Amino acid sequence: MSAISQRKITVVGAGFVGMTAAQRCAQQNLCAEVVLIDILEGRPQGIALDLNQAAAVDGYTTRVTGTNDPADTYDSDIFIVTAGLPRKPGMSRSDLLEVNGKVMSAVAEYIRNGSPDAFVIVITNPLDTMVHLMRAKLGFPGRRVMGMAGVLDSARFSWFIAEATGSNVKDVDAMVLGAHGDSMVPMEKYCTVNGVELGALVPKDKIDAMVERTRKGGGEIVSLLKTGSAFYAPASAGVAMAASILNDERRLLPCACLLNGEYGFEGVYTGVPAILGKNGVEQIVELPMPTEARIQMQKTVGEVQLDIDALRDLGLL
Ligand code: APR
Repeated sequence: MSAISQRKITVVGAGFVGMTAAQRCAQQNLCAEVVLIDILEGRPQGIALDLNQAAAVDGYTTRVTGTNDPADTYDSDIFIVTAGLPRKPGMSRSDLLEVNGKVMSAVAEYIRNGSPDAFVIVITNPLDTMVHLMRAKLGFPGRRVMGMAGVLDSARFSWFIAEATGSNVKDVDAMVLGAHGDSMVPMEKYCTVNGVELGALVPKDKIDAMVERTRKGGGEIVSLLKTGSAFYAPASAGVAMAASILNDERRLLPCACLLNGEYGFEGVYTGVPAILGKNGVEQIVELPMPTEARIQMQKTVGEVQLDIDALRDLGLL
């Protein structure tokens, strides 16, 4: 891994999630350079100029380059991929399959050619299917290609728990597994407030309501915003994963990983707890699962498989 003074992070897509991720990388001085690439002419250049001018106030030394030229991304250490369309009200993440599938294929080509040793974190939806497609197009080992969703879904659950218990969100640990969609699997058994089990603090019917709100967490924001989808928490979550890899922090974070027999699944991406370090996915952690959660994992993976089949039917895989 390069020293911080030489690190290069490329954020693909200069929309809401991408520009926020670029800002987070800069504010955390995570790298020497952030390259922000988009197909829209002027947009990444404008955001980059704005972020470079903010450096004088915020005091970061990271330089941001806005571009439309894939060659500027070459030799990146890590890619955070946010390119594609977000959901409109009433749309499911799967509705985005074809349009965002084509974007993944285009992006994979220049990552593979120009940065063959890079790590890749996909944020674009439908997440689990897009990261599957990205890895298939890249041909990289699974440990270097992962999807951001579990950190976000767990953060949403954490916020609801903090609100319900009146506690400080920094004391809350939540864990959400499975695909990034309505079939995700919030693991209440592994949710605590400073070590205290959730069940000791909140009645069952309230926990069930929070689980349901977490599952629909993205949709709730889409309905409120009317145009576009969530971006602050998704960007923060993607950058936390990048930081864990680049700084070899070895954080245990739920993220979409390629399963190789873990949890009983083979060759498919879904959200599981993983330790992220300098080699990418260092280890997938297999939690003892209550029967109900096992059934939910079957369902969630089944939904990802359906989307993968649909990608094949579209000729994209
Ligand atoms: N290469 C680079 N950028 C692209 C490409 C491409 N091939 N195709 C589209 N884009 C850009 C668009 O021009 C736009 O600027 O991706 C950006 C997407 O930005 P937004 O529309 O603001 O979407 P955003 O809210 O950032 O969400 C991006 O993240 O959370 C997910 O569901 C969300 O899939 C969506 C993604």
